[in-house]
Amino acid sequence: MPLPDPIPTTLIADGWQDYRLLDSGHGRRLEQLGRVRVIRPEPQAMWSPKLSEAEWDRADASFGPNEKSEEDAGNWRFRRELPETWPVSYRDLRFYGRFTPFRHLGFFPEQMTQWDWVADCVTKAGNAPRVLNLFGYTGVISLIAARAGAKVTHVDASKKAITYARENQELAGLGQAPIRWILDDARKFIAREARRGSHYEGIILDPPKFGRGPKGEIWKVFEHLPLLLSECRAVLSDKPLFVILTAYAARLSPFSLHALLEEHIGKGRIECGEIALREESGNRLVSTALHARWTP
Ligand SMILES: C[S@@+](CC[C@H](N)C(=O)[O-])C[C@H]1O[C@@H](n2cnc3c(N)ncnc32)[C@H](O)[C@@H]1O
Repeated sequence: MPLPDPIPTTLIADGWQDYRLLDSGHGRRLEQLGRVRVIRPEPQAMWSPKLSEAEWDRADASFGPNEKSEEDAGNWRFRRELPETWPVSYRDLRFYGRFTPFRHLGFFPEQMTQWDWVADCVTKAGNAPRVLNLFGYTGVISLIAARAGAKVTHVDASKKAITYARENQELAGLGQAPIRWILDDARKFIAREARRGSHYEGIILDPPKFGRGPKGEIWKVFEHLPLLLSECRAVLSDKPLFVILTAYAARLSPFSLHALLEEHIGKGRIECGEIALREESGNRLVSTALHARWTP
């Protein structure tokens, strides 16, 4: 009997006091992050905004195309003087919001849909499970897993991202938590871990569409994800807790993530679908990424 077809589920990010998608429309989103209000491009929001222009005009900063150069991704424009970083809280975990190039703000708010889930898995396991976070960026999920009791290995190719992650660790008051911050290429690192016979109970992957390792190693999601996942299988312990895969690459489908996890990680319970932010003004869902979760 073939397995039933996967039914996509939507993970909805809402109800977070320090991050609110206030409104969206005309290709933009209006967001409140702690005390900072920003406007960023949002191609999915082809509809009309619900809030007044005056509300949008109250934004402290907006990201838009660079008028002087069509080449780069754009830049931030500020309406008032703002610090480069400011604290944001998720439940009682504090980390930094920050203005970065490429319109990002130091964390991906829709990832909150994974945070409680991971914390829950780690807490229930209760025996200091080992969690590997590949492409971990500024490390919010690494901090959440460590605080729940995991021993975390966080890997990213960007020195800046690791520096920001360590700053987040200090702000969160988790300076003594068992987290290894590793600056490396994800593929090289996992191949080395497989050779060493290392094992992890939980693996989190959030690969970009295209990236580079610290020595210029090329990462292309369509080319390299299958092999990376089969190496994840090799380092998954014989008492696994989870494998979480998210993707922001257009042209991918949740069904592809589902089939990849099934092929490379093995039979288990696999959930897949979209991740969306719920907008407050009109309750509309703004889809930002795809996810698939494997549990034994
Ligand atoms: C989409 S972000 C991850 C977001 C993060 N999971 C979060 O929710 O905060 C992608 C990350 O992959 C890293 N990266 C890109 N190429 C890489 C490579 N070859 N090896 C390891 N990390 C890489 C980037 O530096 C970036 O921090």
